[in-house]
Amino acid sequence: MDLIIRGGTLVTADSVMEADILIEDGQIAGLYKPGSPVDSSVPVLEAAGLHVIPGAIDVHVHFREPGLEQKEDFLSGSGAAAVGGITTVCDMPNTLPPIATADLLRTKVDKLQGRSYVDYGLYGVILPDNLEQVDAMLNAGAVALKIFAGPTTGNLGAPSWGALVDVFQAVAKRGGIIALHAEDRETVEYWEQRVKGEGGSTYEDLLASRPAFSEASAIAQATLLSAQTGCRLHVVHLNTKEGVDLIGFAKQQGAPVTTETCPPYLLLTAADYGRIGNRMKVLPYIRHQADQERLWGGLLDGTIDMLSTDHAPHLPEEKARDIWSAPAGAPGVETLLPLMLDQVNKGRLTLSELVRMTSLRPAQAYGLYPRKGAVRMGSDGDFTLVDLKKRYTLRAEEMLSKARQNPFDGVTVTGMPVATVVRGQVVAREGKIVGQPRGEWLRPPEFCA
Ligand code: DOR
Ligand code: ZN
Repeated sequence: MDLIIRGGTLVTADSVMEADILIEDGQIAGLYKPGSPVDSSVPVLEAAGLHVIPGAIDVHVHFREPGLEQKEDFLSGSGAAAVGGITTVCDMPNTLPPIATADLLRTKVDKLQGRSYVDYGLYGVILPDNLEQVDAMLNAGAVALKIFAGPTTGNLGAPSWGALVDVFQAVAKRGGIIALHAEDRETVEYWEQRVKGEGGSTYEDLLASRPAFSEASAIAQATLLSAQTGCRLHVVHLNTKEGVDLIGFAKQQGAPVTTETCPPYLLLTAADYGRIGNRMKVLPYIRHQADQERLWGGLLDGTIDMLSTDHAPHLPEEKARDIWSAPAGAPGVETLLPLMLDQVNKGRLTLSELVRMTSLRPAQAYGLYPRKGAVRMGSDGDFTLVDLKKRYTLRAEEMLSKARQNPFDGVTVTGMPVATVVRGQVVAREGKIVGQPRGEWLRPPEFCA
């Protein structure tokens, strides 16, 4: 698609400039001084008064296909992402059935054709009994392989830490990425049984059922494996102060480790549960002020590479169950940029820093750079126009996700994404889908056979 984005302020991870952006055949074809004469046949997207940022890349969403489409499907999830200013997602494999073979991955690829508004990578999962599929899933184009070290939605098992030595070696040989849900299963099983047995029923009891030690222990073991095998490791949804320290240590040792955190961990604490209830029940659980402060510190100093959403929709009636039986997960693709732009306005980070966390680093860590995450000739023309002055009250009932509930329902922010461009096509404007579902499957070239 061809497009000119005209009159905006272009903000990248390391620069701010006034520029008109020309996109040809979906790719960036030129940056021009504002007001440069343009070919009048090219469609124009007016960006005067707006900031133009590289489209956000969210490496952690659950769009629930196949098998859990009542919670979300690719059209609803990717449409929600598009209105939220996200132009690329990577979709998790804890579906029904889980994406645990190359055949299931290929079937998913076929099924998603023409059903996504944004570009997408797809995960495979490593289970206790599918080690022989590791190579095949990478050959089939898995963007990364997920390991659920602790129990969560889908109740998928993981290989023992012993068996993971083999797994890390096998993935390292291929240059693949392991994405780790870092909770230690034994610790969780012991403490859940104990706290429930003692009649626990408060949010603090919920936290006690998965102590901080659980995440720390899983990260310590996995980062050691990463250092020893050279396997690229991405730790998802970091949420404890101990976790930040351990990732920092692993990076100092030169381990090829990256990590992400999500807005709920940066903006909510246990103290909010009384007000928000199970809408903020996400796994790992949101903890305390001290954790939140360390997460912010890690994010700003680069220990935490990127922001993701862990967009994990469940239905309102499921979330209405009691604190133990409500499923964990919250939608996030429609609130990531609004909430973080609000933080930019509050002076917590700069817009360039936000671009680093939502576009540059995710693209680099996931092998999508420089097709994605770069503003240079030939890179995909993925941009989000943001209005830093727009005040808006987030309303779950107006959102496109099937979740129909959101931990940030009713929160007023300043700063909103107002238009989303995927490879030169305007797909969303002012909260509405205006384009076609022309999202492409992204096959990381470097480790595909
Ligand atoms: O809160 C969560 N929800 N955390 C996870 O790890 C899984 C996710 C889901 O799939 O519902
Ligand atoms: Zn997740």
